[in-house]
Amino acid sequence: MKAQIENVKQAALAAVAAAGTVQELGEVRVRFLGKSGELTSLMKGLGALSKEERPEMGKVLNLARTEIETALEQKLAAAEEREKQARLSAEAVDVTLPGRKPVRGTLHPITQVREDIVRVFLGMGFEVAEGPEIESDLYNFQLLNVPKDHPARDMQDTFYVNDSFVLRTHTSPMQARMMTTRKPPIRVVIPGRVYRSDDDASHSPIFHQIEGLAVDKYITMGDLEGCLTAFAQQMFSKDTEIRLRPSYFPFTEPSVEVDVTCAICGGKGCRVCKGTGWVEILGAGIVNPAVLEMCGIDSKEYSGFAFGLGLERIAMIKYGIPNIKLFYENDVRFLKQFNGEVEK
Ligand code: PHE
Repeated sequence: MKAQIENVKQAALAAVAAAGTVQELGEVRVRFLGKSGELTSLMKGLGALSKEERPEMGKVLNLARTEIETALEQKLAAAEEREKQARLSAEAVDVTLPGRKPVRGTLHPITQVREDIVRVFLGMGFEVAEGPEIESDLYNFQLLNVPKDHPARDMQDTFYVNDSFVLRTHTSPMQARMMTTRKPPIRVVIPGRVYRSDDDASHSPIFHQIEGLAVDKYITMGDLEGCLTAFAQQMFSKDTEIRLRPSYFPFTEPSVEVDVTCAICGGKGCRVCKGTGWVEILGAGIVNPAVLEMCGIDSKEYSGFAFGLGLERIAMIKYGIPNIKLFYENDVRFLKQFNGEVEK
């Protein structure tokens, strides 16, 4: 029996020595020390021995078991440590790698242009106001010197909500709202959405305007020209020039249409300015004294200038955009170009 125990022990120690991984060591333990393991079977055989032999063999068996266990434990600790190190280096994170950039949204080009324009006028002492998009006929037309059934109504293709309300066709009703509720001096710009039944490459039924209004003593056409020159030079470039052409609006007298030197060709003539070197950017004029009076401002004491510009138009000129519809489709390939970053 002793020799048998010695054989099993040697076999077990050899198996431990040959095992490399935690898993293999586990298998060795089951094979020799498990429930029906080779050494365990020998222990079960003790009962068949004589009373004299039993304690002696029991001792030898226990010693063998301890020896195998010790060898197993030592190898196991080393294997566990080795496997832990391997796992750690496999899962290691390189904290010096640059991070992944999240995709960032950007302001819509119309929003950017609106903010640019408003910033220029804030710098000249104007304040900012907003008004309703569903507007009464009174403010949209009548107080702006366009009575009911007046032919000037045909200048704008109006969406009527009912007999007395319209979707505002311009931001000019805010002129009347400011003048009827404030006392001069007034200096205000009013950005907002406007509506006209009109639809082609440069017109959309919904578009955006910014209205400007200044009312004070001694305001002249010279103030209007100076203000708009300063605006154009900050908005486009510092050598931009403007020119005023006579025009007609019921609420300004005299009225002008304002052109700027083409931002694309610098005035030499190109496709955007149709070869003229000038592009029209807005309508303006001296507030019609009849409008001042209707709004409760004494036209002998005060005068004013007003202007209205289309945001889409300014953005199209500034960025050379050929079709107004591009602003509303929100195709990210289009929008991405206005995020201030250069495509990589
Ligand atoms: N409201 C005019 C338009 O939409 C523009 C304008 C505003 C003209 C203010 C003169 C003064 O066409």
